[in-house]
Amino acid sequence: MNDPNAIREHIDVLLSQMSVEEKAGQLTQFFYFGFMRDIPPGAAAELPMSNQPQHVEEALARGAAGSLLFVREPAEINRLQRLALEGNRHNIPVIFGFDVIHGFRTILPVPIAMAASWDPETVEQGQAVAAREARAVGIHWTFAPMVDISRDPRWGRIIEGAGEDPYLGAAIAAAQVRGFQGAGLGTPERVIAGPKHFAGYGAALGGRDYDEANLSDYELWNVYLPPFKAALDAGAGNVMTAYMPLNGVPATGNRWLLDEVLRQTWGFTGWVVSDANAVRSLQTHGFAQDLAEAGVFGLNAGCDMEMAIADAAYAHLPAAVADGRVAETALDASVRRVLEAKLRLRLFDEPFVDEEHAQTVLNDPAHREVARRAAERSAVLLRNENNLLPLDRDSLGTLAVIGPLADSQRDTLGPWCFEFDLAETVTVLAGIRAKIGDRATVTYAPGIRPAQRAFPSMFDMFGGNAPEDPADFDDAAELQRAADVARAADVAVVVVGEWQNMIGEAASRSSLDLPGRQLELLQAVVDTGTPVVVLVLNGRPLDLRWAAANVPAILDIWYPGTQGGTAVANLLFGDAVPGGKLPFTWPRTGGHIPLIYAHTTSHEPERQDRRYWDEHSTPLFPFGHGLSYTTFAYEGLRLDRDRIEAGETLTVAVEVRNTGARPGDEVVQLYIRQRHGRAARPVRELKGFRRVTLQAGETRTVEFTLGPDELHYWHPLERTWVIDAATFDVWIGGDVTAELHAEFAVQNSAG
Ligand code: BGC
Repeated sequence: MNDPNAIREHIDVLLSQMSVEEKAGQLTQFFYFGFMRDIPPGAAAELPMSNQPQHVEEALARGAAGSLLFVREPAEINRLQRLALEGNRHNIPVIFGFDVIHGFRTILPVPIAMAASWDPETVEQGQAVAAREARAVGIHWTFAPMVDISRDPRWGRIIEGAGEDPYLGAAIAAAQVRGFQGAGLGTPERVIAGPKHFAGYGAALGGRDYDEANLSDYELWNVYLPPFKAALDAGAGNVMTAYMPLNGVPATGNRWLLDEVLRQTWGFTGWVVSDANAVRSLQTHGFAQDLAEAGVFGLNAGCDMEMAIADAAYAHLPAAVADGRVAETALDASVRRVLEAKLRLRLFDEPFVDEEHAQTVLNDPAHREVARRAAERSAVLLRNENNLLPLDRDSLGTLAVIGPLADSQRDTLGPWCFEFDLAETVTVLAGIRAKIGDRATVTYAPGIRPAQRAFPSMFDMFGGNAPEDPADFDDAAELQRAADVARAADVAVVVVGEWQNMIGEAASRSSLDLPGRQLELLQAVVDTGTPVVVLVLNGRPLDLRWAAANVPAILDIWYPGTQGGTAVANLLFGDAVPGGKLPFTWPRTGGHIPLIYAHTTSHEPERQDRRYWDEHSTPLFPFGHGLSYTTFAYEGLRLDRDRIEAGETLTVAVEVRNTGARPGDEVVQLYIRQRHGRAARPVRELKGFRRVTLQAGETRTVEFTLGPDELHYWHPLERTWVIDAATFDVWIGGDVTAELHAEFAVQNSAG
């Protein structure tokens, strides 16, 4: 149903018939973990009773649940939907939500990898596949994209976002929303997108997940909010709140964020859901004095729906309406938003899912092709001395593959996926073996046992999350065997990185070292004298100083997903050419954090020696960095005008030429700097990018426009968007160190 009048009338009728309890039910979303049915009540002592499937089913039977999450089986979704419809005297269906973060059955590269493609088209296609699979099983809504800017790689959730930059972050956020939702709510085979976590979660103190975030107005508007705005402009139907306090007030009870910014300033008309248990935790924050007050604060701040993993705070809303702490009109406004989403999805007409069709969609081979291509396009070639890569498959006698991560299916996928099929997941080792066939010999040695976390992961309850620690592993003998295997080979491919349970939610780290004995393993292999290619399996920058100084080729493959190994083999042997670029500045060491390229010009900006005395303060790899198997030259940078009025737009053009012998992709990047003005502005800011494919010798003209959206910024004292009369530098090139330069002036200020 898409006629706004018909929707309004339908909701008016429902609201006039619903009890306050039924309304509060619509605003409550329950986790439903079917596997808990098998846990005897005693054994589940540490699990809140309200999480028990029986409890949720009772709520459905009373018409007191608006939504469920974490149900992934089509037959189970149909069964629960039937219970919901039987239990609801108004026939209001539940809406099923789930974390479809980087694929549902077909697992795509992790989000930070997709951002490293710098290719909105790849991102959109990938999320369209994820949406198609999720919708086929009956999921209507994804808790994605995560658009939190992250400038501290200790924070585990850096992997779920698009990195440090608001401009790239906004472009990737919008592409994800288009991929998930298609033309809008109600588009067949798509799901509702819910950008999260609103807002500032990526700025957790010390990178420690859930810790407080303190962000100036200047940083919020200029850095942290733009990706949310872009996601909403792309039509996102939902927004999720954040766990932590922002500048002292918990985000889930933060009226400024949820009402003033989101609804009044941006005009958001969809519904807001809390993060899991985040309404309840308004109490633990020392904000609300009890559960009932947490519900009052959440709803009154603008959080429409509570995601509950324990007793719902919103179960107390009827009492709060009765005693006047919540106005029934406020309750109705929230219910209206939830019902509108259900109506626009046509859930009232089509509450059930076709279970057979779901299997056909999940098995669609075209989805695997999208995943493989995304993995190829997101890889970043960090280093390639003497063109060691690509390898020549025909002249290779023996290739050694080393490292436990090289043959771990679960770790190839990365965190935040649950419905994967390990049997069809191609590891690096399997991908290389399949590619080489019997043309050469491929040998393998893990060398070391998997590293383990110091503390268990909250995802261990899903099983298979932590790597197995092999009982009969002879550490000394295995390390020696790896060196022997490497010595006997023409080339050694060493896979290093983090096990997937070491990154993601509640998986922050205090260091960026390679976990376990991986550096030792790498050094042992390099010592053999065999040329080494390092593949990095990661979602955050790691301390690769030793590798960058001692290993000729380093390819960042991230957690590449279901088809990862196939993609990696294509890249290693030149059937695909790396073209991804870093979406973050790569620090040399954990002590560098936070290290961002867009820092503000400050006192003695050029004096590196006045920064750290023990280490360069420049990054190991700069933002936007990524090599190819070919080379590119930039020339002919020109502006159509060198002076504009505030509010006007100018065009920047440049010639990019593939100067090598192979086709390849380049991400053309445009940076600006405002030289002076009413505030000190960043030394460089990304304001345009385009990924282009160029044949050997081909030249392409790439054009960008610079107008108010690129030149304005939020002024901390004026507390509004301004454009300054100033001279601006422009650089275009293949990373943030681009040297090709031009300048222009804005003649008057605005705002
Ligand atoms: C995470 C959210 C996620 C939710 C539901 C929370 O712990 O912070 O990002 O969507 O769980 O799984």
